[in-house]
Amino acid sequence: MSVHVKKRADYQPPAFLISTVNLTVNLHPTATRVVSVLTINRQGDHNKPLVLDGDKLTLKSLLLNKNDFSDFTLSDEGLTINTDEDTFELEIHTEIDPKNNKALEGLYLSGGAYCTQCEAEGFRRITYFMDRPDILAVYTVTVVGDTDLPMLLSNGNPVDKGQIDDGKHFVTWHDPHPKPSYLFALVAGDFDLLSDTYTTMSGKEVALELYVDKGKKAQGHFALASLKRAMKWDEDVFGLEYDLDIYMIVAVDFFNMGAMENKGLNVFNSKFVLAEQASATDDDFFNVESVIAHEYFHNWTGNRVTCRDWFQLSLKEGLTVFRDQQFSADMTSPLSNRIKHVRVMREHQFAEDASAMSHPIRPDEVIEMNNFYTVTVYDKGAEVIRMFHTLLGPEGFRRGMDEYIKRHDGQAVTCDDFVAAMQSATEIDLSHFALWYSQSGTPEISLSHQFNAQTGKHNFTLSQTTPATADQATKQPLYIPVAIEIIDEDGNQYVDEQGLINNGLIILDTPSLSFSVSATTEKLTPVLLGNFSAPVKVDNPLETDGLLTIFTHGKDPFNRWDAMQTLYSRCISALYDDVTAPIEASLWTDLESAIKSEQGNLELLGECLVIPTFETLCQTRKDIDVARLVAARNQFCLLFAQQLSKVLNHIFLHIDTGDYAYNQSAVIARRCKNVILAHLARLPEFEHVVVSQFDNADNMTDSLGALKAAQYTRVFETLMARFETQWCHDALVLDKWFALHATQPKDDILATITMLSEHPQFSLGNPNRVRSLVGSFAFYNSEKFHALDGSGYKFVTDYLLKLDGINPQVAARIVTPLTQWQGFNADHQQLMKAQLARLLNHKGLSKDLFEKVSKSLA
Ligand code: PHE
Ligand code: ZN
Repeated sequence: MSVHVKKRADYQPPAFLISTVNLTVNLHPTATRVVSVLTINRQGDHNKPLVLDGDKLTLKSLLLNKNDFSDFTLSDEGLTINTDEDTFELEIHTEIDPKNNKALEGLYLSGGAYCTQCEAEGFRRITYFMDRPDILAVYTVTVVGDTDLPMLLSNGNPVDKGQIDDGKHFVTWHDPHPKPSYLFALVAGDFDLLSDTYTTMSGKEVALELYVDKGKKAQGHFALASLKRAMKWDEDVFGLEYDLDIYMIVAVDFFNMGAMENKGLNVFNSKFVLAEQASATDDDFFNVESVIAHEYFHNWTGNRVTCRDWFQLSLKEGLTVFRDQQFSADMTSPLSNRIKHVRVMREHQFAEDASAMSHPIRPDEVIEMNNFYTVTVYDKGAEVIRMFHTLLGPEGFRRGMDEYIKRHDGQAVTCDDFVAAMQSATEIDLSHFALWYSQSGTPEISLSHQFNAQTGKHNFTLSQTTPATADQATKQPLYIPVAIEIIDEDGNQYVDEQGLINNGLIILDTPSLSFSVSATTEKLTPVLLGNFSAPVKVDNPLETDGLLTIFTHGKDPFNRWDAMQTLYSRCISALYDDVTAPIEASLWTDLESAIKSEQGNLELLGECLVIPTFETLCQTRKDIDVARLVAARNQFCLLFAQQLSKVLNHIFLHIDTGDYAYNQSAVIARRCKNVILAHLARLPEFEHVVVSQFDNADNMTDSLGALKAAQYTRVFETLMARFETQWCHDALVLDKWFALHATQPKDDILATITMLSEHPQFSLGNPNRVRSLVGSFAFYNSEKFHALDGSGYKFVTDYLLKLDGINPQVAARIVTPLTQWQGFNADHQQLMKAQLARLLNHKGLSKDLFEKVSKSLA
């Protein structure tokens, strides 16, 4: 297979610029005609030809300065125009086939509606173009369609519309803001429309329009209200205001990702738009609000200031994820948000860094750009932005952001430009800090502690190391802000004699540093990495009593939660060594009083009662025997339920969730209740509680909470069958049902999945269905995916071979768990690699899969 590796270091400024794009798109299911008129300017003194990208296009005709033009060459990758002109107009006629576009990139049909997806390199599937983000052009777009497509949408403001003869009509759109091609969008179809308005801080009225499938209007109100909250928040917190007369959001069922920030015309996976009490969980509501905000925030961080090249993706994504996280924290609660995001880091980003796909937040090499929309670029990228925020403080960060926008509005820039803007707002030298952009891997920090009884001195040494990753053999020490508290058994706080700790923060910018604390007590407990102040692992040597001291006296609620997670993980390790090993009775009494002490704080309590997932446990272990780790975790959960059922049940019965509402206190109450229910469900005597919650639920959070809990009971299949009858008309709800089936650790799970893939609502062409059934199995049914007869690995591989021919982007996402074999023992590794080899040997493998599979076998 011939593959082209693109390197960040090879960036060249464009040889030509395109200042205006005039598109006419005449829609037809299998033969859409696109006419593109471009104004092109040569850059600098050279005689290179004009190279345009194109993919799966049929060229119909070509005119240069309005004359037929034939001095060009055509290849699979594009069109090369040989001309001496410096300034010219090019008119390109192409034909495309949206109906047979199953990869969902470029123009495709979702249900009956046309829609586009151009990020990262999809515009080249619509017309020949310099499809790179540093080509910023002003677009005028005319959409022509049959009258059974009443809504014809594109970016910007509508400027003209009318009927044309043969039963067709058109709408012309003009977007005054120069933009890269990846932000182009077109939608045509028949939708239900929800309209509203928003008055910006400068008094401009903006029309807000939300387009959903016919009959789903009631499920759109929450998204529209979320949009208004996001618009207000960005004005309040960053002084950023919307810049067009109209903001449109369209919900579609067929979508590869979450949503897309096309200028003035966002296209969303319907799962991040539609939400109402009966069919959406609290998590769904949360996700809708946060994704709506994320795409809206891109209008400034991404659209007005965009990326110079795709290696800079984290410039817009890390920053925008950070912004949506801050927004969600303000709308809901900082603590549960922080825990949610740290879970993502530990479960998924640490795993990526430990695999052959490890890359810095600003990658150096890419084969298929779609493979780099990763947890590293997005979530670790957001953690890096958060560290700027921690170091500069909210005001300093705001000054840096103001400067960033002021300097670069209307430009396509780099991560270095962002760092430079932040640098202008602080005295701190950020040059060492910037290494976070180029160094991959998860740093590990540790703290050694010696007490000298004679002098009454505690000596601490804080160290860092970053293990080598697949992409980088040697690592340098990073600039790490470590939030730290030092407390004694009564919770008194201590400061260091050297004054290295400032406002609870110590900067670790060398391999190690030492400090001392004087105290009469021998028992000092250091509390590290408050609020997860840096995306690192902590090697925590504390014993149970130290962890409990943190839980009882720690100031930072994140640390208190984290101490419990460490404690559970320790217990599971002991059971991993010997599943019959007894757990000290005192642990249960300690836990019981810890639980009782937090009864008034259901938010922290609910989170503290969650046992670390299998995936999280994997990140701190090597040479894993999956069956043993699963058994150890199950055994711990069972003991937990048995030993604590009384106090848990007591709390369960006393949590009042009231009449259904989506608000913070109700969400917290339901969350805590459902976490407890999942524990109790492991005990047969609580089966009826699960059934009763299922019977009486008036909202999806409680229905689904009951179903999840039922996974440990005998009533699972019965309840699932009832659920199906109730919800078989609603594909988004059925996705949850597919996922619950797929994560059942039962022996005939593969037969079940095969059967479900024949379900009338299932479709191999729909990414949401595929992710919920096959993705959930590969990512979260650890026991059966990792079965030692290799059947789980083979099953997923067989499926990927089918899927790759249809939608390689989704296939390359689902292959992830198979490529993350590094932490498992040799038996697992061998079986996983055998399936990866099958993929690699497959003729016609997509470059999406090729990149990930070949790296993981290298
Ligand atoms: N840019 C989108 C976002 O993060 C994600 C996306 C990437 C969507 C590529 C589609 C294709 O908001
Ligand atoms: Zn984004």
